[in-house]
Amino acid sequence: MDRERLGRLALEARKNAYAPYSHFAVGAALLTKNGKVYTGCNIENAAFSPTSCGERTAFFKAVSEGEREFLAIAVAGGRTGENPENPCPPCGVCRQVMAEFCDPETFEILLATENGVEEAYLLKELLPRGFRKSRLEE
Ligand code: THU
Repeated sequence: MDRERLGRLALEARKNAYAPYSHFAVGAALLTKNGKVYTGCNIENAAFSPTSCGERTAFFKAVSEGEREFLAIAVAGGRTGENPENPCPPCGVCRQVMAEFCDPETFEILLATENGVEEAYLLKELLPRGFRKSRLEE
């Protein structure tokens, strides 16, 4: 699975976004260590706080299917009805969920637009000095 293909899967997943309040549609494609891809989109709610971001939808689908090891996630976001022109970095809550399951030294976050994967980061770059489960084991 190359980066560009993962980016295109995020763009495809974005088409299912349910975002009637923000009108901002996000898609994500999460690659497991054994090569499987789980996609997700944002799912909003009239009560607002139950909203799930696209990235967390993908993670929770994967984890609920038994997956625990991940290599990369591609994310694409932008106004509903338009092709995403600008990279959409994951929110802080989603970065924290990534930190629960992913190695910050190697897990890649790929930001895709209509032009392909435009930016790539390691989790450690987007969540430096994050709170991790190892802290609870000290
Ligand atoms: N959103 C995501 O899906 N992922 C992010 O990382 C940032 C924000 C969604 C949540 C909400 O449905 C909409 O984008 C506007 O914030």
